[in-house]
Amino acid sequence: MQNTNQFSPWRLSTAPMLDWTNRHYRFMARQLTKRTRLYTEMIHANALIYGKSEDFLLHDECEYPLAIQLGGSSHESLAQATIIAAKAGFNEINLNCGCPSPRVQKGIFGACLMKDAPLVAKCINAMFDVTDKDITIKHRIGLDNDEDYNILQDFVAYISEKTPCNTFIIHARNAILDGLSPKENREIPPLKYDFVYRVKKDFPNLTIVINGGIHTNDEISEHLSYVDGVMLGRVIYHQPLIMRNWDNMFFNDNNPIVNDETIIEKLYSYACDELKKGVPLRSIVTHWLGLFHGYSGAKRWRQILSDSKQLSLNKPELIYHAFNEMNNYDRLKYYK
Ligand SMILES: Cc1cc2nc3c(=O)[nH]c(=O)nc-3n(C[C@H](O)[C@H](O)[C@H](O)COP(=O)(O)O)c2cc1C
Repeated sequence: MQNTNQFSPWRLSTAPMLDWTNRHYRFMARQLTKRTRLYTEMIHANALIYGKSEDFLLHDECEYPLAIQLGGSSHESLAQATIIAAKAGFNEINLNCGCPSPRVQKGIFGACLMKDAPLVAKCINAMFDVTDKDITIKHRIGLDNDEDYNILQDFVAYISEKTPCNTFIIHARNAILDGLSPKENREIPPLKYDFVYRVKKDFPNLTIVINGGIHTNDEISEHLSYVDGVMLGRVIYHQPLIMRNWDNMFFNDNNPIVNDETIIEKLYSYACDELKKGVPLRSIVTHWLGLFHGYSGAKRWRQILSDSKQLSLNKPELIYHAFNEMNNYDRLKYYK
């Protein structure tokens, strides 16, 4: 099958993940891939408006292309939050219609919004009205026991007809609103990639991004032959190095692949800057623990960067120490 949209801006992206894809994680991810689109964690529109979460807006310009994900269901709040996010420099504002957590349902946003396409359209139109940045949506293939493709088709048809939104990021599972935890909701409902492929066939002019359970570069290549883009979540947090080849592999970039030493130099210098602003070392490096997943010394790296006593000293040299110890472990193992 032919890939019709090889260099869509949504060709590869990292998924929004609460407590995980904050700016410290994203800075590290950006050292590995320049082309992949990065997403923030979800932030509720009101939290932005009432200034309770300024930290969510902070980012480094190197993170572009960068999307912020908003939660909410009041078109007025979402419009106001969109203005704030656009002013802060984000390239895209994404509306969360996929989160099934009970807390989110109580606030009537996230996945339960899929029940109310007119409300979603109202929110998206209000967001478009206040910015010329990209406005996109992330949602599931259905809710609870919906087994019917037509429900997904109707939702996409409605939103794409009633709003200018033309980019749909689809987590290829249903959201079970009652009875499953958010974690179980990422594991138990079966993946139905064929539903997402069908959406692309039925709406060839829309940008369709597939998400859910995608782990390897081979799987990415396969999906890209059906849809415009692939979004990856847990794997890019636990095994970030998977992203190191992406610019060459999926964007035909000829830049040399970044080596470990260069990554460490950048992370060290980033940590020095953040420490000067008063950010504790622990809050930064905790998002880098997975970096060397797969190396034989990876456990040493993780151990040293999780050592409370060492972390409390807030010395950025700990990063070099962990890196050298990891490499020593590799060497020792080799000579055994
Ligand atoms: C810790 C965690 C937090 C998440 N937070 C969000 C979120 O804030 N917004 C969102 O749309 N999805 C969230 N998700 C779901 C992911 O974006 C993604 O849709 C899901 O993990 C499936 O992709 P994967 O199989 O590649 O991980 C979260 C997932 C995890 C593991």
